[in-house]
Amino acid sequence: MKTAIYPGSFDPLTNGHIDIIKRGIKLFDKIIVAILVNPAKQSLFSVDERIDILTECLKDIQGVEIDSFGGLLVDYAQQKNAHAILRGMRAVSDFEYEFQMALMNRRLNREIQTVFLMTGLRWIYTSSSIIKEAAYFGGDISGMVPPLVEKRIAEKFGNPSGNRKSNQPEGDF
Ligand code: PNS
Repeated sequence: MKTAIYPGSFDPLTNGHIDIIKRGIKLFDKIIVAILVNPAKQSLFSVDERIDILTECLKDIQGVEIDSFGGLLVDYAQQKNAHAILRGMRAVSDFEYEFQMALMNRRLNREIQTVFLMTGLRWIYTSSSIIKEAAYFGGDISGMVPPLVEKRIAEKFGNPSGNRKSNQPEGDF
């Protein structure tokens, strides 16, 4: 049984994350999507809200489990009998951070390999933070996040009817 941990903040889940999970599950028997519990970082959604969102949005992907973790990622991976950490890599700007994290994790536990998938071209310029910022100022984020996330963000920002729609074809930049 090949298990990978797909760790992250997922604040919120984006279509870029879902793309990585759908492609990752072709490489692993099981992917545990693990939300980092980080009280030091201010988040839009609580861990419980994120678990609910991920559970709903990923329910149709066989082999995916949702969980949260605190402390060192490699310790959590070992506890879950996972031998791989799955990460998506976007533009070059991600490289340094990801490289540093992968090497630190390798130093902490050499039995756990970090596997990178290149983010789909459509999602190269998206991130949870930039999507939140666009939505906060009333920008259209449809097509970048699942409809449930779009709805939950609109509710958080006091705009339950959703944001202004852009004239872009879905997912186009
Ligand atoms: O979605 P993010 O915020 O880029 O995810 C970062 C995450 C959760 C993968 C990273 O912060 C992490 O693994 N934190 C756990 C603490 C840890 O193990 N740190 C040492 C390795 S750098």
